[in-house]
Amino acid sequence: MIEPLELRKVMGQFATGVTVITTQSADHLFGFTANSYTSVSLDPPLILFCLHKDSKGCPIFLHNQVFAVNILAADQIEVSNGFATKELSTEDRFGLVNHATATTGSPVLEGVMGWLDCRLSSSIESGDHVIFIGEVVDMNYDADKGPLLYFQGGYREIGGQ
Ligand SMILES: Cc1cc2nc3c(=O)[nH]c(=O)nc-3n(C[C@H](O)[C@H](O)[C@H](O)COP(=O)(O)O)c2cc1C
Repeated sequence: MIEPLELRKVMGQFATGVTVITTQSADHLFGFTANSYTSVSLDPPLILFCLHKDSKGCPIFLHNQVFAVNILAADQIEVSNGFATKELSTEDRFGLVNHATATTGSPVLEGVMGWLDCRLSSSIESGDHVIFIGEVVDMNYDADKGPLLYFQGGYREIGGQ
């Protein structure tokens, strides 16, 4: 028997970066904090993230068919927490940080250390999450910024405790 709390602890042994995944169309804006982001393929350039199937974001990503992955910098804990707060409305989440608009129309957050603008390639419902796979159509990065890391259920910085 796999205990969910124990599973969470073992999952937490895997150190990750932290991203905010955003999407926008005429009347459908959404963003949430994710550490399930990972690269899939170089040719074609594919990446993925997983979102809980009960999130209001799932139908929005499926409707918009585009999204941007914003890779958070070490000084963006507040942004990460805001976009991970269920009680915070979409407007309040985006009120935490200035943003520009990428080629697909998806929001790119100010101060991130990198971003990938994507068109939805496919989605797969798996267990209690939906896996969204996107093809990268534009991207940029800032090599001088350090990453925000997530490990054992808490934020970390490279070289920090
Ligand atoms: C560091 C961190 C990483 C997270 N990664 C994910 C993730 O990959 N997938 C997911 O569904 N939720 C993840 N969450 C939780 C969501 O950000 C949170 O449930 C958010 O409220 C979802 O948006 P919603 O409430 O509008 O559905 C993460 C939270 C934190 C703090």
